[in-house]
Amino acid sequence: MTATPSLVSQLEDHVAAELDQRIQAALEACVPQDVDCPDRLRDAIAHSLLAPGKRLRPRLVLMACQACGGSIEAALPAACAVELVHTYSLIHDDLPAMDDDDLRRGRPSCHAAFGEATAILAGDALLAMAFELLATQIQPAEAGLSCCAALARTAGPTGLVGGQQADLEAEQTPGGLAELEAIHRRKTGEMLRVCLRLGGLVAAASPAQLASLDAYGRPLGLAFQIVDDLLDWQGQAHVLGKKTQKDAERGKLTFPSLLGVDESQRRAQELIATAQRALEPLGPAATSLRQLAQFVLDRNR
Ligand code: IPE
Ligand code: IPE
Ligand code: MG
Ligand code: MG
Ligand code: MG
Repeated sequence: MTATPSLVSQLEDHVAAELDQRIQAALEACVPQDVDCPDRLRDAIAHSLLAPGKRLRPRLVLMACQACGGSIEAALPAACAVELVHTYSLIHDDLPAMDDDDLRRGRPSCHAAFGEATAILAGDALLAMAFELLATQIQPAEAGLSCCAALARTAGPTGLVGGQQADLEAEQTPGGLAELEAIHRRKTGEMLRVCLRLGGLVAAASPAQLASLDAYGRPLGLAFQIVDDLLDWQGQAHVLGKKTQKDAERGKLTFPSLLGVDESQRRAQELIATAQRALEPLGPAATSLRQLAQFVLDRNR
């Protein structure tokens, strides 16, 4: 029966492609059309947001919602909101004052294409747009409020922004493994974790379901950033769509710089196995999340 696996994988590819199309269409609809939005700002937002990112975070939101019995339709605004926040964080991460990168998602980074001032403002706009979406498009309103609170905490000074500050400070005063894990948790891991929570909240998930999603999200988030460090160390820029070996150039504290490639890979594998085990209570409904964890480990972009 050689045909069966290939049929199954064709079906999986088809489902994944359909999900990506729905995410892309929903993101296109997020680009402001109002005449009060200056054209240059609109173009900068579209340039970064609609560029070919992997859409990992919106996929996590939608798959978490489905795993808890909710619908894709209901979770799409939350999926867009996390991608808006993520895209803002990439635009600001690439600025000369931060990582100073001029290639992102296979395109000139936002400041390289539109100048620093417009790139800063495009990031600011994306952040505000994310919260407008959650506050106005999630039903019931209480779920929207919970999503707003969760995403605000994750994006703020004890989460993403705090992690970015610590990442920059570690260029000057590098620390050890505990500090590195704390940086990665805040700058990257918490965002992946909150995607799952948002999907669960939209689906009105039970406390036990939310706990399973969280137990999956924590190790997944750290593994994701370990692989990001490894790809900077040994990946290919034309595949990644961003420059490589920038972390070593800037003296960043990363997993391969601290532990070497083999040990970093081993840790990422272990974390992904832990994440996949945490999904067991959710049963077959979590199959797509299990596959996504494997993608996070095996990806080359
Ligand atoms: C890159 O994230 C930035 C990090 C948090 C490491 P992704 O690798 O998910 O970037 P895109 O969205 O696919 O461009
Ligand atoms: C970026 O981490 C994390 C955020 C944008 C919050 P990196 O600086 O490692 O991301 P890349 O490698 O530039 O995508
Ligand atoms: Mg950075
Ligand atoms: Mg960077
Ligand atoms: Mg990186």
